[in-house]
Amino acid sequence: MKAAFVNRLGGVEEIRYGDLPEPVPGPTDCLVEVAAVSLNPVDTFVRSGRFSTAVPLPFILGRDLVGTVVSAPPGTSLARGQTVWCDSLGYEGRQGSYAELAVVPADRLYPAPSGIEAHSTDAHRLVALAHPATTAWLGWFEHGRLVPGDTVFVGGGAGNVGNAAIRLAAAAGARIVASSHSRDFDTVRAAGAEVVLDYRDPDLPAACARAAPEGFDLVWDTSGHHDGEFLAEATAPGARVLITASAAPNTEVPLGRLYTKDVSLIGFVMSRTTADQLARAAKGLTPFLRPRAAGPLTRTDKTSATGTVSSAGALTTAIAEVLPLSEAARAHRMMETGEIRGRVVLTP
Ligand SMILES: NC(=O)c1ccc[n+]([C@@H]2O[C@H](COP(=O)([O-])OP(=O)(O)OC[C@H]3O[C@@H](n4cnc5c(N)ncnc54)[C@H](OP(=O)(O)O)[C@@H]3O)[C@@H](O)[C@H]2O)c1
Repeated sequence: MKAAFVNRLGGVEEIRYGDLPEPVPGPTDCLVEVAAVSLNPVDTFVRSGRFSTAVPLPFILGRDLVGTVVSAPPGTSLARGQTVWCDSLGYEGRQGSYAELAVVPADRLYPAPSGIEAHSTDAHRLVALAHPATTAWLGWFEHGRLVPGDTVFVGGGAGNVGNAAIRLAAAAGARIVASSHSRDFDTVRAAGAEVVLDYRDPDLPAACARAAPEGFDLVWDTSGHHDGEFLAEATAPGARVLITASAAPNTEVPLGRLYTKDVSLIGFVMSRTTADQLARAAKGLTPFLRPRAAGPLTRTDKTSATGTVSSAGALTTAIAEVLPLSEAARAHRMMETGEIRGRVVLTP
């Protein structure tokens, strides 16, 4: 089968595209015919060795996939021919998704929302959302303890994670103040943010204080630009701060001012998330991942007991490029040089 892989961890130049033996599923694995994969920053971290994890060599890159079940072990609800998705290949000893066929543990494979065919633009949208939407779900509901009525700050609101985070928080009944570049204000408002501020504006902390005079119950700068003074000033007593990226790893944080307000700093990475947590996220996300043509969410789709579901509920994504899998190296280079905004989907 064709695959994009490396024979050793390193730079983009290590990526090969060529033939590898077809994988053989174990007793608890499914074999999946891959229809589309998406490119995530973490794919470059694993490929380069920056994120340390066990990988078999040659190592097939890639976390996410949408595809079709070729075979499933007895006792699972998955059936041959079913469209499925996964967001946790390519680390902890598992091969990745950038291939024509992938072996996926059955408990890491989820049914696609009904109406999504594997070879379709809906499947591209699904695979593009898999990683950021799951991160957003885990942030709010596994780690952040978001409840209806919370006032939250989402930094990087136009990004892949930030946009999904705003849409999920809006559907859960939170009030959202977000930051983005001014060119993205409309997109961020459409996602469900009540107030959008320019992340380049030196007045941003004061504007946040005006927008949330009682302080934020949750602060999540999805872009990883943390500011200790901002955290100390902008948080409400008992607030949670989510940390999922770090643009400046040595940021000073005034711990004394935070702990005396009962503020919790909560970091997490998808890579340490258990299969059970990922499965819970996939189940919870299903209504938000339906094909856009399926219409608006209904009241029963909401994630919390808050009035009506916001029309901001359905998740959207901007797909920058759909490339053949043979262009995996080019796609990694584009991601590392920062020349893409939005998602890149690769098709075998
Ligand atoms: N911990 C985890 O499990 C996990 C999971 C997924 C992703 N991540 C990490 O999360 C980060 C974001 O991922 P992503 O896919 O959302 O990236 P992305 O799509 O590139 O989004 C980042 C956003 O941040 C904005 N931004 C840039 N500088 C900013 C600043 N100073 N303040 C506020 N926002 C700023 C960017 O705006 P411009 O376009 O204007 O530059 C962009 O909209 C990455 O570092 C990724 O590796 C972590």
